[in-house]
Amino acid sequence: MDTTAMFSLTYGLFVAGVAEGGKKNACIINTAVQATAEPVRMHVTMLKENLTTQLIRKKGSLTVSVLSLDCPLELIGSFGMRSGREVNKFDGIDYQTDGNGNPYLDKNTVAYMSLNVASVIDLESHYLFICDVVEAEKTQKGQPMSYGDYRTLKSGGTVGKEGAKAGKKHWVCSVCHYVYDGKIPFEELPDDWTCPVCQKPKSVFILED
Ligand SMILES: Cc1cc2nc3c(=O)[nH]c(=O)nc-3n(C[C@H](O)[C@H](O)[C@H](O)COP(=O)(O)O)c2cc1C
Repeated sequence: MDTTAMFSLTYGLFVAGVAEGGKKNACIINTAVQATAEPVRMHVTMLKENLTTQLIRKKGSLTVSVLSLDCPLELIGSFGMRSGREVNKFDGIDYQTDGNGNPYLDKNTVAYMSLNVASVIDLESHYLFICDVVEAEKTQKGQPMSYGDYRTLKSGGTVGKEGAKAGKKHWVCSVCHYVYDGKIPFEELPDDWTCPVCQKPKSVFILED
């Protein structure tokens, strides 16, 4: 099986946000999908070990902020490559709060949705949260960023009106989609090197065009 074929599926890029027990946290996800239109339902797939996931399980609700094409890569790194266990990711970040008290971003986004978790499916490494959408608003004008746009930008390519122009090949974690950008060539990393985001072994990385 060529697992890089999975990268031809299209996704958006989002921030999942939650506030629970005095802690406000959020992380990048690419797995927010509309499931049904009437009633409006969505589902998100979240790594069990993420702090955001654990807070969502307790709270039973979350926000999904839809990132815009002009969203800086630093913002994605800040929410997607660090855990809220070590830092307050909302330091210096403008945010709004939905009716459940959960944070969402209104800058660098085109829309947000407020979700109540209706059921949870255990997928071993992840939880699949099936949710009712209870709020949805547009935030800023612009185009949403796709996961493909993100990968192109991350590898030094460009996106925009003329379409995406590919950059160089890069190694991507097949579990959390972290794109390796260290100074040491990926092939030269030691065998016990692990993904800095999800701590999975080097062997789960895939070379992507
Ligand atoms: C491009 C990208 C896509 C990601 N997609 C998901 C996802 O769909 N689900 C998920 O649980 N984590 C995903 N992650 C990983 C989390 O954002 C990351 O593990 C984060 O550091 C968790 O932070 P937390 O511990 O504060 O919740 C993604 C990360 C990146 C960079």
